[in-house]
Order: sequence, then C-alpha cells, then structure tokens
Amino acid sequence: MIGHPRRYARVVALAGHAPERVLTNVELARIVDTSDDWIVARTGIRERRIAADDEATSDLVLGAARALIQRSNMPATDIDALLVGTCTPDHLFPSTASLVCQALEITPGSFDLLNACSSFVYGLAQGCGMIEAGIANTVMVLGGETLSRITNWSDRSTAILFGDGAGGALLVGTDVEAEGSFLAFDLGTNPDLGSLSLGAGGSRNPANRGHANGPEGFIDMNGREVFRWASRVIVECVERLLEQAGLQADDVDCFVPHQANLRIIEHAVARTGIPMERVIVNLDRYGNTSAGSVPLALAEAVDTGRLLPGQLVCSVGFGAGLAWAGSLFRYWGPSA
Ligand code: UT7
Repeated sequence: MIGHPRRYARVVALAGHAPERVLTNVELARIVDTSDDWIVARTGIRERRIAADDEATSDLVLGAARALIQRSNMPATDIDALLVGTCTPDHLFPSTASLVCQALEITPGSFDLLNACSSFVYGLAQGCGMIEAGIANTVMVLGGETLSRITNWSDRSTAILFGDGAGGALLVGTDVEAEGSFLAFDLGTNPDLGSLSLGAGGSRNPANRGHANGPEGFIDMNGREVFRWASRVIVECVERLLEQAGLQADDVDCFVPHQANLRIIEHAVARTGIPMERVIVNLDRYGNTSAGSVPLALAEAVDTGRLLPGQLVCSVGFGAGLAWAGSLFRYWGPSA
C-alpha cells in the first residue's frame, strides 16, 4: 500500500440476536438429573435460548447482521467482507457466511472462522487486519451457534451449560488514528485435544461412516480442566493486552469475557483488578453460546447503556483448542 495513508479499523455498530424459546433450569431438571440450585451455584446460569427446529446458525447470525445494518444506517452493499465465527455451521460447505450473503443479496468476500468459543474475537483480529492492510474497508464480523444441536441432553455435566445465540460487529476503515478502535490483540493456543472436543463430522471420524450418531457426535468436555485453564488464561491475556497498550486495569470501561461460567469470570476478574461493576455478564439468561457469546454480551452492554461511544472495551474469548483471543478496543458506535 505504498503511497496510501495508514488505515485504522473502527467499530461502528454492535448487535445481538437470540432465538425466542427459553429453556429454564427447572425445565432442564426434568430432562437430566440436576437442579436449578446446583446449576446457579456452580455456573450462574438460570436459563438459555434454544433454536426452533427450522432455525439453523445462519438464521441467528442473519438476525444479528440485519440489526447491524439497521444500527449503522449503512446499505448492506457497502460490506466488502463478511465473516462468521462458528463451530456449528449450517453445513461444512457452503459456508454459513455465504448463506448470510445470499439472504442479504450481497456479494462481498465471505468465509467462516471455525474456532469455537474464541472465534468472534479472532474475527475482530481478522477484520481489523484486513482493513489496516487495505484489503477491505467495511467488514462485518459475526459469531453464532446452535449448540443445542451438538449437546448431549442426557449428559448433565455439559447439557446445563450451552445455549443458542448470535451477535456481531461492523468495522469500517478511517485514515484518522484517533478515530480507530483497536489498541491491542492477544491470540494464543495451548494445544489440547482432550479437554473440549466434538469428535465426529470431520475427516478423522466422518459423519457418513456413522460416527456422528455415537458419543463423538456431541460435545465432550473435561469441565474441571477447562475451568482451571480459563481462569488462568483470561488473567494473563488481560495483562498482556494492557501492557501492549500501556494502560492500567482501571482504564478499562467495560470488560466483556466469554460467557462460560460466572465462577470463572469472578475468579479471573478478581485477579485482573478490573472492578466487577464494569464486567458484562449475561450468561444467566443465555448460558454459553460459544462464538455468539462475546458479541451478544457486547450488544447488551450498548443496549443497557453500560458501553458508551468512545469507551474502552476489553474482551476475551476462550475455549476449544484450547485457544484464546483478547482485544482492547474503543467503541465508536451509537449509544442506546
Ligand atoms: O466455552 C468453554 C466451555 N467450557 C467451560 O467453560 C466449562 C468450565 N467448567 C465448568 O464450568 C465446571 O467445571 C462445570 C460447571 C462443568 C462443573 O462444575 P464443577 O464444580 O467443576 O463440578 P465437578 O465436575 O467437579 O462435579 C462435582 C460434583 C460431581 O459429583 P461427586 O462426584 O462430587 O459426587 C458431579 O457428578 O457435581 C456433580 N455434578 C452435578 N450435579 C448436579 C456434575 N454436573 C452436575 C449437574 N447437576 N448438572
């Protein structure tokens, strides 16, 4: 891009979208051997949303995409890259992103980003990088899941955690550094197959050889291991983000962690020094929606007036891989 001014990526809209059906802990306790008290005490989750039989991930993500277009007051045809973070795509191909493009009747560059719970924040890094490199000027970064389709509803150690939902962010380019959003990214992986996986459906255990009908067709998780790892990795990620940007914990106006478990969030936040009243928690109403979790919580922060234009957001996604992605950025969209 010799001769071109440096470009900066700006977050100009955030939006979420969840299916209507609510599944409460009390209803869940009729399906598996658990109780509302146990789930609330160990996770903070009270209810989650479940997609209708005819709703797939692209439908939820499309809801978020339409809301972003409305909030930014920008024609969909301005989007020149659209990406969807998900581990429950409608199909392995065509991509869920291409289905969203079809519904919006647009023709941008599009692709899926398959990295489970950290996908959306990886998507922000990708979108920011594309804008700063001059590859795209307007990037829609979406994340969404229908985890209910890969949840084993007879396994109480996982069935209590997950839900369906989606959200997204709209990024546009600017030449003005002070109008840019992103101050730091921190990405990483501690390779670990055993702690969190979906065994079937890929080339190792193809769905067409019957694997998807067995236990490999559902989420498999070592909850204690993920808990320990996540509580540590969130803290280290936040420390590295602040160090990169030369800022302190107190400079963060709004902390939006992946909504996995309230106890993980509380453990981690206590060690980061970010005041708990600046932490966005909506897992009580949505459970863990994987790639949908961070954007759904970001949108709620805006909608409830807890994230205002110009404020500094710290966000950390973490999960299968075991991979994490953190970002420190200023929100430049409208207030609620
Ligand atoms: O996106 C990242 C995805 N994953 C996560 O973030 C998961 C992180 N881990 C967790 O959230 C927690 O480990 C869980 C909520 C999954 C489990 O909580 P825990 O405090 O680690 O429980 P545990 O697995 O150590 O089990 C404690 C006891 C066991 O009984 P015994 O052996 O002590 O008699 C379990 O059988 O609780 C029992 N138990 C349950 N009881 C009632 C496990 N699940 C349930 C349940 N209802 N749903």
